[in-house]
Amino acid sequence: MSEPKKLYIKTYGCQMNVYDSERMAEALGGEGYVETKSHDDADMILLNTCHIREKAAEKVYSELGRFKGLKAEKPDLKIGVAGCVAQAEGEEIMRRQPLVDLVVGPQSYHRLPEMEAKTRAGEKALDTDFPEEDKFEKLKSRPKAKRGPTAFLTVQEGCDKFCAFCVVPYTRGAEVSRPADRIIREANELVERGVREITLLGQNVNAYHGVGPNGDMTLAQLIWELDKVDGLERIRFTTSHPNDMMDDLIEAHGTCSKLMPYLHLPVQAGSDKILKRMNRSHTAESYLQLIERIRAARPDIVMSGDFIVGFPEETEEDFQATLDLVEQVKYGYAYSFKYSTRPGTPAAERPQVDSVEADDRLQRLQATITRHQREIQDGMVGREVSVLFEKPGRFDDQMVGKSEYLHAVHVTGSGAQIGDIARVKIVSSGANSLAGEVIR
Ligand code: 5AD
Ligand code: SF4
Repeated sequence: MSEPKKLYIKTYGCQMNVYDSERMAEALGGEGYVETKSHDDADMILLNTCHIREKAAEKVYSELGRFKGLKAEKPDLKIGVAGCVAQAEGEEIMRRQPLVDLVVGPQSYHRLPEMEAKTRAGEKALDTDFPEEDKFEKLKSRPKAKRGPTAFLTVQEGCDKFCAFCVVPYTRGAEVSRPADRIIREANELVERGVREITLLGQNVNAYHGVGPNGDMTLAQLIWELDKVDGLERIRFTTSHPNDMMDDLIEAHGTCSKLMPYLHLPVQAGSDKILKRMNRSHTAESYLQLIERIRAARPDIVMSGDFIVGFPEETEEDFQATLDLVEQVKYGYAYSFKYSTRPGTPAAERPQVDSVEADDRLQRLQATITRHQREIQDGMVGREVSVLFEKPGRFDDQMVGKSEYLHAVHVTGSGAQIGDIARVKIVSSGANSLAGEVIR
């Protein structure tokens, strides 16, 4: 038998890219590839790229440039670019960096095996189509090998919202939901391989409307189907849009015990003027009312969000409205970004905010978010949580896992194994994690 070829995948960006990289590795596994952690011994290098913020493409080009020496030493080495930069730049990548053999957009991953064969025949392979066929169905299914206790599972891709700053509707295309039976089958396979927690992924996951046995299903209905999967203990989903937060999903947060009390619900800004210009089609007030309803269903839920500061024409007053909203919601986690101009999006044409001013706002917003995050984390001390153990800690007999609220929790001397779920009493709160004791 011939030596397996080695595949090195570097993943940038969001959780969906992490999932896609896993699936690409599995697809190429069928072509005799095994994964390697170093590009030095690879026969194929794949960069799975992200285009959400500035300089992403430039970073990819500089990373590619670093492979020049390696490719000169190893002419058989194949280099590919996948993900959203591949979609956005297309053929331009091969023109600017001739060492690239393969460019594949996110909707064409199922064609990777043929594309790889083409590169082996000495040809270049490019595919940035939005094909009709279901790529996940065509992709080689996950092999039965054992894996860690948590996994991502993409249920929906693309976005029709067209927020004025965002490239996703262009790079990932229109919203498409996977049929429910395929998702449930994949969840069962993951559970057979040792998975106990699944995070359902979608750029607009709560707009899920995949085909079910009796017509289209909502995300909540899909969650209730997954709730029936024996051995699956925890369900999460990300990322949601406020306008798609349907009643049945809010209710599920109160009634579905496998659905974890954590919700990532980006609002982006707190000023109605800016929200309108962002084309968000919700107001600060409607968002706050929504949070109230979610908290009524699940009072202990930990909220998470995304923010953009320095969006075109944002004044100090607009920014203060964002700070006010953050004070009202009190996020357990939040990701805040300085606006970055994405060519081709409507906001790129608007008057831009001074960069130094935007940096200053970002710092102030992050200070507020960090303060809340601390308060919420510290507030866990003395409480009982459930922890799913994911890996050994740094010290002897120490295990690390995540609580239902997604806090990292360390436990020492409990004898817990990876994949165990235990009740834990939190005894202290550290820089980025909690420490606790298993309740016997
Ligand atoms: N500039 C800054 N942040 C952005 N995001 C999306 N596009 C941009 C942009 N052009 C942020 C949003 C989104 C998160 C994934 O990235 O907050 O929710
Ligand atoms: Fe981008 Fe999310 Fe807006 Fe869609 S809803 S355009 S993915 S920010």
